[in-house]
Amino acid sequence: MLKVVDIYKTYKKGKQIINALQGLSFEVNENESFAIIGPNGAGKTTTIKIILSLIYPDKGKVFIFDKDTVDYTTRRYIGFAPEIPYYPLHMTAIELLKIFLNIYNLKLNKEKIEEYFELVKLKDFMNTPLSNYSKGMLQRFSILQAIIIQPKLLILDELTSGLDPIGQFEIIEIVKKLKGKTTILFTSHNLSEVEQICDRLVIINRGRAIFYGSILELKQKFSFNKYILKYKEGNQIKEIELDNLENINISFNELIELKRKELSMYEIFFELITKDRN
Ligand SMILES: Nc1ncnc2c1ncn2[C@@H]1O[C@H](COP(=O)(O)OP(=O)(O)OP(=O)(O)O)[C@@H](O)[C@H]1O
Ligand SMILES: [Mg+2]
Repeated sequence: MLKVVDIYKTYKKGKQIINALQGLSFEVNENESFAIIGPNGAGKTTTIKIILSLIYPDKGKVFIFDKDTVDYTTRRYIGFAPEIPYYPLHMTAIELLKIFLNIYNLKLNKEKIEEYFELVKLKDFMNTPLSNYSKGMLQRFSILQAIIIQPKLLILDELTSGLDPIGQFEIIEIVKKLKGKTTILFTSHNLSEVEQICDRLVIINRGRAIFYGSILELKQKFSFNKYILKYKEGNQIKEIELDNLENINISFNELIELKRKELSMYEIFFELITKDRN
């Protein structure tokens, strides 16, 4: 449903030229959850701004349902929760939400609106001014204003940045509920959450894709020949790491688990980025 085709973007900062994107391409399927990850300054937010046609690429194109996003009417399909949201904080959540609904010319009844507030766990705070919201609540409000327009593409930039573990958990639970119901494109530096939520991902560094595929493909690419063997010895459970499966001296009824050792998402990310630097 989303096609990003060979996009380039340079910024000028005084005399300095920054090559933010250098030929980035990827596709996102309908109702898929897709992550863009990469170090600070890799070009994630720039990519999102181009998809939203808030800025234009120097070269390359973006299509949503085969429609070029230069035609900004594609924005109507997109719900967007930005990296740094700005809201008029003196307003209550419900007041501001009604303004969003008016902009989109949508009429939802009270029950439906309450259902959405319930989904993001803000039903008890509908009439609270946003100035009294915590960072986590504001982040959930941000998701609410993005999903209430029933988007075909939901874009969440920096899903849980700056939130405490409970705040992160609450957001992940909301996204898991939305998963499969609409197309979700998100960025995050929290790789364990990326692993939990996304079906496929693109890893970008210095404005180029250095991996594009599923989590499984990523893990397979980086699986290495080490094994973890868990076994019983008397009353104890022991675990050893093996370089190969030859000469294992354990009987079948002592064996609990034998599995290939996996690198964590953080180890894989570190490998990819440091290799790309050299
Ligand atoms: N408006 C701008 N003017 C000049 N340079 C910019 C501008 N916006 C972004 N850049 C530069 O472009 C590069 C890519 O920035 P971008 O914000 O897309 O990165 P990002 O991957 O979203 O990073 P982060 O993880 O920190 O959010 C960076 O070097 C950044 O400094
Ligand atoms: Mg960013």
